[in-house]
Amino acid sequence: MDHTFPSVAELSMLEEGMLPIVRRPRRNRATSSWRALVQETDLLPRHLIYPVFVTDEKKKQAIPSLRGVYRLPIAAVLKEIDEAISLGITSVNLFCYVPKEEKDAIGSAAYREDGLLPRAIRAIKERFPDVLLIADIALDPFTDHGFDGLIDAAGGVMNDPTLFALAHMSLRAAEAGVDLISPSDMMDGRIAFLRSILDSHHFSHVGILSYAVKFASSLYAPFRDLLGSTVRKGNKKSFQVNPLNAREALLECAIDEQEAADMILIKPALSSLDIISRARAHTLLPIGAYQVSGEYAMIEAAAEKGWLDGEKVLMESLHAIRRAGADFIITYAAKRAARLLQE
Ligand code: PBG
Repeated sequence: MDHTFPSVAELSMLEEGMLPIVRRPRRNRATSSWRALVQETDLLPRHLIYPVFVTDEKKKQAIPSLRGVYRLPIAAVLKEIDEAISLGITSVNLFCYVPKEEKDAIGSAAYREDGLLPRAIRAIKERFPDVLLIADIALDPFTDHGFDGLIDAAGGVMNDPTLFALAHMSLRAAEAGVDLISPSDMMDGRIAFLRSILDSHHFSHVGILSYAVKFASSLYAPFRDLLGSTVRKGNKKSFQVNPLNAREALLECAIDEQEAADMILIKPALSSLDIISRARAHTLLPIGAYQVSGEYAMIEAAAEKGWLDGEKVLMESLHAIRRAGADFIITYAAKRAARLLQE
């Protein structure tokens, strides 16, 4: 056969290995055991953090845009966690839902000693002392305006006053026995401030998982629906990071590391793979990524329509987030992913 350039008529007669190609990366993909040996990244249940939403409402509540995610009474949250543990998941992220009547301008419901947050933390830690419990710290679930902090007369989110509010909320979580607080507000100086407040109140053992990079994204909409925290007026661009800025995102990581964050978080996950990867090269801290509500909803919606295989795309997304350099991932699909990993 003439190797130089067979005609179309000759295509079906060509033989494998006929060309002098020396480097053949396909060899390392030939069989499943061969592929297993050279697999660089893995995903295990211990890499997953399961977010739970607790409420004082009696009944579990769902919203259409977050299939399979519910606002749950404390007892039902305990059942969820029990199930997650049985699937090998060891970390839980806690969010609170309070009804409209309990929201006000300063987020009073976030600071009460008998509030939902400390009660839920106590119940979870009492029943599951070994679970790593992380509490989201921000005011938006508790404020009537929906912003993550205290606002001025013009409706702007004030930085420094907000830090004191976050400190009160953090202390409630720490007193109740939380392992880590997770400030998701994007105020300046909050990591150093919260660290010093925790330390001066004998909570130096409580860790800080900082949302170092939270891009101003439209992918948080289903989450805000679930918590009823959609902002009444305006947007969060004056404090969340511009999604067009990579250096600024890395600067946020560097500052939070200097301010003694124990771990940093980047979100949304799939649209920030470049940032995760670059942050990995800049910091020695553990890095987490949050597969946010909109990312989850996009996969769920397409799967429901039968346009793609939801489980396969879910795992592909989580693998890509790990490959980019995330040590751990917060995902609403944690239980499903853990179940798929068991199979
Ligand atoms: C609020 C907070 C948000 C999310 C986590 N914490 C929403 C926001 O910033 O408006 C989003 C999570 C998700 O979309 O799954 N501090």
